[in-house]
Amino acid sequence: MPWLKEANIAIVITGRPTVSKYWLQDASIASGFVWLAAVNLGLGCAFGAVYNLMDEKESHKRESYVREALEIPNDRSIIAILGIGYENKKPASKRMASKSEVIHYNTFGSNP
Ligand SMILES: Cc1cc2nc3c(=O)[nH]c(=O)nc-3n(C[C@H](O)[C@H](O)[C@H](O)COP(=O)(O)O)c2cc1C
Repeated sequence: MPWLKEANIAIVITGRPTVSKYWLQDASIASGFVWLAAVNLGLGCAFGAVYNLMDEKESHKRESYVREALEIPNDRSIIAILGIGYENKKPASKRMASKSEVIHYNTFGSNP
């Protein structure tokens, strides 16, 4: 996350598996809403993944780094870091997937 050094602030998103079995969804939704709120205020936001469901070793390495730096208790999983700040320039627009690629009616693969 080389861009994080230049961000004005960072928000670390954590989740508590002992509180909700949907902690990962909860934390992911929270990340999205923080991102939308930042953009709504005219700020730039970038997402840095910390937790990794598919790679336990890498996840532990990343989470431990953040946990130690910020003294985050062990009952919190660390999902992401959002870097937020004033943009120097607007990022180039991205190619969005077409609606037919992402919207399916009734059964997967069916388009109107
Ligand atoms: C789900 C998700 C996870 C990401 N994880 C990382 C990450 O771990 N490290 C990183 O440098 N960028 C990560 N990014 C990319 C940055 O958030 C950012 O989008 C990227 O730097 C491109 O910025 P741009 O919008 O200016 O093109 C991730 C993006 C998403 C959507």
